Amino acid sequence: MAQLWGGRFTKETDKLVYNFNASISFDQKLYRQDIEGSMAHVRMLAKQGILTEDEKNQILSGLEGILNDVENGTLKITDEYEDIHSFVEANLIERIGDAGKKLHTGRSRNDQVALDMKLYTRHEVVEINTLLKELLENILHIMEENMETYMPGFTHLQKAQPITLAHHMGAYFEMFKRDRQRLDDIYDRMNYCPLGSGALAGTTYPLDRAYTAQLLAFNGPTLNSMDSVADRDYVIELLSALSTIMMHLSRFSEEIIIWNSNEYHFVEIDDAYSTGSSIMPQKKNPDIAELVRGKTGRVYGALVSILTTMKGIPLAYNKDMQEDKELTFDAIDTVKGCVALFTGMLKTLKFNRESMKTSAMKGFTNATDAADYLVNHGVPFRDAHGIIGKLVLYCIEKDKAIDELSLGELKTISPAFEQDLFEAVSLETCVNKRTTIGAPGPDAMREVLRINREYLSLG
Ligand code: ARG
Repeated sequence: MAQLWGGRFTKETDKLVYNFNASISFDQKLYRQDIEGSMAHVRMLAKQGILTEDEKNQILSGLEGILNDVENGTLKITDEYEDIHSFVEANLIERIGDAGKKLHTGRSRNDQVALDMKLYTRHEVVEINTLLKELLENILHIMEENMETYMPGFTHLQKAQPITLAHHMGAYFEMFKRDRQRLDDIYDRMNYCPLGSGALAGTTYPLDRAYTAQLLAFNGPTLNSMDSVADRDYVIELLSALSTIMMHLSRFSEEIIIWNSNEYHFVEIDDAYSTGSSIMPQKKNPDIAELVRGKTGRVYGALVSILTTMKGIPLAYNKDMQEDKELTFDAIDTVKGCVALFTGMLKTLKFNRESMKTSAMKGFTNATDAADYLVNHGVPFRDAHGIIGKLVLYCIEKDKAIDELSLGELKTISPAFEQDLFEAVSLETCVNKRTTIGAPGPDAMREVLRINREYLSLG
């Protein structure tokens, strides 16, 4: 049991207590951030004359050695240490002796762990952002290829109006674009350095906090030492953004699962992203999409967990806050895995354009346009709505689409119908006439594609 604080204790910690309190099993994930933070701290201590150049160099090369040895596997992080901070410090002292004992000058584990967690999550924000960009590039590619792939748009999962696959995909483009913007916002807001806040009230050493902040690529130091060690807002914001990403992925997965069903047959999931059944030889199941949908729950769970943990904590640091790590690490890994797999699945997804078109033609998705046609021929909209309602009923009885009726049949329902009705309610016309920005018409879509292509080119 290697711990940093035995001095004022007369008894050994009970083994169960020690294990309950220890965080090494999960905070070992922070070894790199812990060492980087310590290096910046030591550079600053030497610059301020608190450590000698020689002490600084010894500590830096000791820390460098620990980092290398952990990464090449010769130094194992074991549970004989309480946490990652004790592990690094104990190993440093073992390697370089007395100079190592000066590493923790002007620092507490409270500002140290606040820094480690911030460095870790800041890095992951960038990683997730990059993965989302790759997903967006794939969505944009599908959009570009499917400007004339007609399909039904749905409300209440009932066929509503004709759209294109490009337009449908465009909705997801906007969602994941906002997800990236949220990550950028979080990055900017979190990017202040807590190091030098000490346990809660700063320190009596002449630390240069702006210098360590600069060494670690922060915008500057945090401005209140109590808040610095007690703040986990950035974890909450990140988990909230991750929950929203999962919600979007889950909705998208749900649609792919529906579209992949025998009844819809809009898409075919590649063999590499499907699985078979142990008993039913005909099955090809959309397991990856289902798992992405399913894993949404654990990410939401992480958000609710940290919100609940933080709600009753008096200032400043309390040990409850150690609970910020495990579920956050799990949520980050889950989201990264899901975005990457989903992108792979989307890249290899085959769209069945004929089924989509037939489905759009069969479901009276042009009924609104037929009503608009009557309005353009002098019929008030409310009357037109009623006439088209009757027309749909007639079509259902005859098992025909509106544009499969003869002009004679149409005229028995309303004399306002003329030959040009057929052109007016074709899928192409229904889509092409929707020209306002944001609508599926080709000019509006081209403009959106131009804007989004430019957005992706900016980084
Ligand atoms: N393992 C602790 C955590 O994750 C590190 C900080 C410990 N500080 C303390 N005062 N006990 O929060």
